[in-house]
Amino acid sequence: MSWNLEEAVSYYQQQGAPGNQSALISMLREVQQENGGKIPIGIPTAIAQAYGVKESLLLAIIRRIPSLRLADGHCLELCAGPNCGKQTALAALAEKESPGKFALKYVPCMRLCGKGPNLRWDGVLYQHADAALLRRLIGENCK
Ligand code: FES
Repeated sequence: MSWNLEEAVSYYQQQGAPGNQSALISMLREVQQENGGKIPIGIPTAIAQAYGVKESLLLAIIRRIPSLRLADGHCLELCAGPNCGKQTALAALAEKESPGKFALKYVPCMRLCGKGPNLRWDGVLYQHADAALLRRLIGENCK
């Protein structure tokens, strides 16, 4: 089973997050570890919304802990598994739009094939993705 933010939010809530800052820090460490050594820039927003806290709280924690690092720019991860990978129009749109705007990565099957095509934008999972969703994400984030 691949890592996903929703499960992490639920797990660390059981550990006391967001009130318990140790639980929040452990969660941020896990996010960083699961995302190649940097916290995707959309993750603090998603965590703040999930817990009903201010994003500035999470950004302050990230700044305060030297081992935590926020990614520099936007990142789109497209599932290239056997089901989602058939969505060549989505990949073609991503390839066309990415230069100078966001990093584009192809990742193995996210193990959510029944809800594909799947993508992650700044670490946040989107299911049943289509060109309209991708255009909206780019428009909202890459001005
Ligand atoms: S092919 Fe995309 S989740 Fe499996």
